[in-house]
Amino acid sequence: MKYSRIGGTGSYLPEKVLLNSDLEKIVDTTDQWIRERTGIAQRHIAAEGETTADLAEAAARNALEAANLQANDVDLIIVATTTPDCVFPSVACLLQQRLGVTNSSPAFDVQAVCAGFAYALGIADNFVRAGTARCALVIGAETFSRILNWEDRNTCVLFGDGAGAVVITASDSPGIHSTHLHADGRYEELLHVPEGVSRGYDAVRQQQAFVQMKGSEVFRMAVSKLREVVDETLAANDLDKSELDWLVPHQANIRIIKATARKLDMSMDKVVLTVQDHGNTSAASIPLALDTAVRDGRIKRGDKLLLEGFGGGFTWGSALITY
Ligand code: ACO
Repeated sequence: MKYSRIGGTGSYLPEKVLLNSDLEKIVDTTDQWIRERTGIAQRHIAAEGETTADLAEAAARNALEAANLQANDVDLIIVATTTPDCVFPSVACLLQQRLGVTNSSPAFDVQAVCAGFAYALGIADNFVRAGTARCALVIGAETFSRILNWEDRNTCVLFGDGAGAVVITASDSPGIHSTHLHADGRYEELLHVPEGVSRGYDAVRQQQAFVQMKGSEVFRMAVSKLREVVDETLAANDLDKSELDWLVPHQANIRIIKATARKLDMSMDKVVLTVQDHGNTSAASIPLALDTAVRDGRIKRGDKLLLEGFGGGFTWGSALITY
């Protein structure tokens, strides 16, 4: 079996919903501005004490159930996250413990911000193709609300919390046709959380440990890099854009998503949109969107999906999948 395929999907969103009208009471913004500039109407926010591992666990259990598999069938866990519970153990190891995976298989986190799920999927696919894993749990999970400055209207209106998961199994046919991962580290100043453990995470510096973004520059770069990566993905598979059934994009901004759809000549009813309900859940957004469209019956077995995401780093990536 030299390919991997998606055996099942799952997701989880925290109970609490924060509406744009709630944000109007916190910062100088309006529901109209947020909807028009981003497409977001609401987002979910983790409860006090609810962590990334909690969200990841619920999504993972969901995906295992959909794939009809047990915890000990899993021989690889990769969690894409920017907001781990603690410095270590990784969320993946916390999850391995909670799910009761006792077969000593590898478990680790991947940090590529909003492109994290594309990275995790690419890594898992390569493990399966190499024959070193047969059943991988690949998760994007975030409590991004914990790294937001709730006084900064430029960022706090954009993000939400959640988790999405897929189970990847070895297969005779694709499945995952190809994954394409990229990074360009020269743009740190445009999108970052500039503090952290090794820079000295004292009480004063912790005040700056929030997402800072130059939105319009990031916007332009995202549109341009996503255009490149969708071309690269189609070319690598000798596929015409008309052969795609669904675009499952990272959900940062409806205007970025529409630009990619235009590039692919796809009508918006072939694009899975969750940005209005979830906001930008960073690494969780692609698997959350995928699970939403699988569960509501839009995405069917045999459909050709193009997944893509762009995030801090900068990092970006894509995957072409037959579901
Ligand atoms: N409410 C009201 N006004 C606002 C708000 C707000 N919440 N936020 C910004 N504004 C104002 C700005 O202050 C600015 O006012 P000014 O002209 O008086 O200075 C005005 O709105 C326009 O600001 P822009 O930044 O030019 O607006 P833009 O149309 O670019 O939209 C946005 C901003 C939504 C952030 C957009 O640029 C965007 O989506 N960027 C990309 C985000 C992204 O893809 N990030 C990557 C993934 S995230 C990750 O990896 C962590």
